[in-house]
Amino acid sequence: MSAETEALIQEIIASHRNMQGAALPILHAVQEAIGYVPEDAIPAIAEALNVTRAEMHGVVTFYHDFRREPAGRHVLKLCRAEACQSAGGNVISERIRQKLGIQFGETSPDGRVTLDAVYCLGLCATAPSAMLDGKVIGRIDPARADRIVAEINR
Ligand code: FES
Repeated sequence: MSAETEALIQEIIASHRNMQGAALPILHAVQEAIGYVPEDAIPAIAEALNVTRAEMHGVVTFYHDFRREPAGRHVLKLCRAEACQSAGGNVISERIRQKLGIQFGETSPDGRVTLDAVYCLGLCATAPSAMLDGKVIGRIDPARADRIVAEINR
C-alpha cells in the first residue's frame, strides 16, 4: 500500500471512527475512495474501532459488496435474482460470462473487466437487468448482451 493510500485510509478512519457502527461506513468509504478494501487496511481499521483483526476480516468477507482486490477497468454487474432469472436472465448471464471468459467475482487477466453477480438492482420491471460501470441496462436479450460484451472489449 502506498503512503498516499495509507494516508487516505487514516483520514477516512479519523472522520468516521466516532460514528455508531463505524465499521461499514469506513469500509464503504475506503472502497469508494480506492476501489477496494486492501488487506493492509484491515489492521488499522480494527485498531481504530477496538476490535480484533479477525473480527474486522470477518466483516469484510461477510459482505460480498467489499472488493478485496482492485476491480477491472469495467465493472459489469449482472442481476441473478428471481425476477431477472424468470425473464431469462440465467441464459443471458451465462452467454455474457462465457464470452468474457471469467467466473462471477473474477476480473479478467488483462484487467479489462470485473464480473459481479448482484441480487436485484431495483430494475425488475425491465428484467433481465445489469449495470455496466454504474449505468443501468434493462431488457437484455442476446443481441443486447453481445453489445455489452462488445462495449467492454472495445
Ligand atoms: S430481480 Fe433483477 S433487478 Fe430486480
